[in-house]
Amino acid sequence: MGQRDFDVMVLGATGFTGKYVARDLQSLARDEPLNWAMAGRSSSKLQETLAWMGPGKRPPAELVVADASNPQSLQAAVKRTHVLINCVGPFRYTGYEVVAACIEAGTHYVDISGEPEFVERILTLFDKAEERGVSVVPCCGFDCVPADMGNLFAKTEFEKRGYTATSVEMFIRLTSGPLGISGNFATYESAVQGLSHAHELRALRKKANRAQLPIFGKKTRIQENPRFEKRVSRWCIPFFGADASVVRVGQQLVERFRTSGTLNRNARTLNTKGVPVPTQFSAYFCTDSIVGIAGLMFFGLSMSLLTRFAWGKKLLLAYPKIFSLGTFSKAGPTDAQMAASGFISTFYVKGFKKHLSIEDSEISAAPDYGMTVVVKGPEPGYVATPISVILCALAIRNDERKNTGNVPRGVLSPAAAFAQTPLISELNDAGITFSVESESEL
Ligand SMILES: NC(=O)c1ccc[n+]([C@@H]2O[C@H](COP(=O)([O-])OP(=O)(O)OC[C@H]3O[C@@H](n4cnc5c(N)ncnc54)[C@H](OP(=O)(O)O)[C@@H]3O)[C@@H](O)[C@H]2O)c1
Repeated sequence: MGQRDFDVMVLGATGFTGKYVARDLQSLARDEPLNWAMAGRSSSKLQETLAWMGPGKRPPAELVVADASNPQSLQAAVKRTHVLINCVGPFRYTGYEVVAACIEAGTHYVDISGEPEFVERILTLFDKAEERGVSVVPCCGFDCVPADMGNLFAKTEFEKRGYTATSVEMFIRLTSGPLGISGNFATYESAVQGLSHAHELRALRKKANRAQLPIFGKKTRIQENPRFEKRVSRWCIPFFGADASVVRVGQQLVERFRTSGTLNRNARTLNTKGVPVPTQFSAYFCTDSIVGIAGLMFFGLSMSLLTRFAWGKKLLLAYPKIFSLGTFSKAGPTDAQMAASGFISTFYVKGFKKHLSIEDSEISAAPDYGMTVVVKGPEPGYVATPISVILCALAIRNDERKNTGNVPRGVLSPAAAFAQTPLISELNDAGITFSVESESEL
């Protein structure tokens, strides 16, 4: 990659999330030398954000004006950095162009997206990224990092005991103080746009025609209906975020490398070492009461109905507070709301008390070992997400700086990218913790 002006550049540093990413990058880099830049499309907003951050211990080396919708401006900015953190969303608008510009410039890329269609589109750039020696890792914030790295953590814990994890059910819940939990408009807009283009996602997946993952252990089924889940003592419904698809795509990539043999051809491509037998992964979202579930269902139903019509979409985007029952607004959460919020993801993991290799043939027996893993952390959107995406960016930069070659190239899920790095222990140190709660024979 040669000499570049910056180790890391934060694009979209003026946004609700980007400003926290820019602020927290300074402290999370610890004592490592870090030359970084804040980038955005408005010079005056960058100045305002810098003033809001106050004098940090490691201020940005430069404020870079860059417009993601202008190819020349984008290319000129991304070629100056080793790693780009993209906080410009919804990602369906300019995300593909930013990734393509990074690949062209030989710049590594991470982002805070959670949009399955965007991920599907940039997966088509896999070969180009690999050829150019670039790591592109979308979905490095909440909820994909807890899900994907939690799945990897569970697999590794089984492996440490000489066992094999084969299925994972994840139950996410959010905690909040008396002022409740809240989100910024862009996340709501991403969801509205995603739903209204659901048919495009289906077509993209059909075209991608990725290999079906082999199934180890009894086939698990997603519980479609809302239900009271005794294990977490909460009401739960299937989670319609990107988690399950990101976990699946990461595991499919491992499978693709194994079957195509590229793993042997190029040592820098995806390594199956830390990512053994694929798990059957499902994700659920839980609330404390049945009223909470009714609210979520209202939200989901009104979104899926109204996004079918142009006027309905307009209505949804004009009145986020009404349709999300007060959860999303253009003002975003307050500091007090964020300070009192958090997330807990509980993983019920099943597997076998023996080592199973990805080379073994599929088995349909019932698993004989169970484990409960918990991943928890601070407010998900604007505290945990900045921590997570910063540590992912630094994992790439440190790997490159030390020339350890532990981060593969291509378009990857977080677990596929960071299985061989100390990311989980660094997340633990920063307050996003991974632990085994209990385990027993089944
Ligand atoms: N994974 C997670 O848990 C998580 C958490 C938080 C957010 N997100 C996602 O992150 C994205 C951003 O959310 P947010 O709440 O921070 O949104 P936001 O406050 O609207 O910020 C968007 C940022 O993008 C910038 N931008 C927009 N168009 C641009 C362009 N053409 N060129 C350069 N910059 C451009 C904006 O610049 P201006 O300031 O000049 O308008 C702003 O800095 C959304 O997609 C959201 O869903 C994900």
